Amino acid sequence: MTTNATTMPASDEKLFEIMYSCRAMRRLKPDPVPEETLLQLVDAALHGPSGSNAQNWRFIIVRERPTKEKMRALWAKTWGFYLETFAVAEARPGENVSARRRMTAAATWQLDHFVEIPAFICVCVARDDALAKVLSSPATLAKAVRHLGVGGAMRLITSGGRTAGIADGSTAYPAVQNLLLAARALGLGAVLTTQHFFVPGEFEKVLGLPSTSTLAAIIPVGWPTGKFGPVTRPNPRDVVSWERA
Ligand SMILES: Cc1cc2nc3c(=O)[nH]c(=O)nc-3n(C[C@H](O)[C@H](O)[C@H](O)COP(=O)(O)O)c2cc1C
Repeated sequence: MTTNATTMPASDEKLFEIMYSCRAMRRLKPDPVPEETLLQLVDAALHGPSGSNAQNWRFIIVRERPTKEKMRALWAKTWGFYLETFAVAEARPGENVSARRRMTAAATWQLDHFVEIPAFICVCVARDDALAKVLSSPATLAKAVRHLGVGGAMRLITSGGRTAGIADGSTAYPAVQNLLLAARALGLGAVLTTQHFFVPGEFEKVLGLPSTSTLAAIIPVGWPTGKFGPVTRPNPRDVVSWERA
C-alpha cells in the first residue's frame, strides 16, 4: 500500500553525518510538527525491514492534550521508578557518569514538559495472523521434528514466549531507527523510549491498543531546543572479536 508520503524528502545531509549526530533529543519546543512531516517519519519507518516481510507495524500518533495527560500520569510513575533504580545502578565499566546525569536531567525535563511535546509516535507490531495460523497448526510440530529434531522442536516450543517478544522487537526496532534517522535529517528531535515496559498494559489501555498488538516504543517528537551534536560511542576495536567470542 502506498500513500502520498512515499516521496523521499529533499535533504542534502549525508547518511553518516546524520547517523553520527542522531542524539537522543528530549528537550523539545511546543511548536507543532505538520501532519505531513509526521507521516514522512512513519514513511521512513515503513521502509525498514520486517520479519517474513510481514510489514505488520502500526503507528499511533498522539497530539491531543487529554491523551497526553493520561500518558503523562503513567510516564511519571515509570520515570519515578527509573530514577530510583536504573538511574542509580553502579557505573558500568568505562561509563561516563556525567553523561548519565545529563541524560536523567533531560528526561526529567521531558516529564515536566510532557504535555507540551507536540507529538508522540507509538510504534506497535500487530500479530501476524497468517504466521500465527501456521504456528498453531499440528502439522507444524511434525515439520519441526523433521527439520530440527525432537530436542530442537521441544526447545522451540518451550522458548516460544521469549522468542515471540524478541520477534516483535526485531520487526519494530529497524523501523524505529529509520524513523529516528529521518527525524534527525529533517531537523526534528526524537528519542526511542521503552519506559512503558514498566507498566505492562497501561499505556496500551490509554491508546486503545488491542491485545493482538505489541507496543514496542513511544517516540516523543518535536523541534529541539538545543543543537544536535556528535554521539559518543566506543572505538569499534574495543567491542569486536574476530571469529570467536
Ligand atoms: C532499547 C532502548 C530503550 C530506551 N529507552 C529509553 C527510555 O525509556 N527513556 C529515555 O528517555 N530514553 C530511552 N532510550 C534512549 C537511550 O537512553 C539513549 O539512546 C542513550 O542514552 C544514548 O543517547 P545518545 O544517542 O544521545 O548518545 C532507549 C534506547 C534504547 C536503544
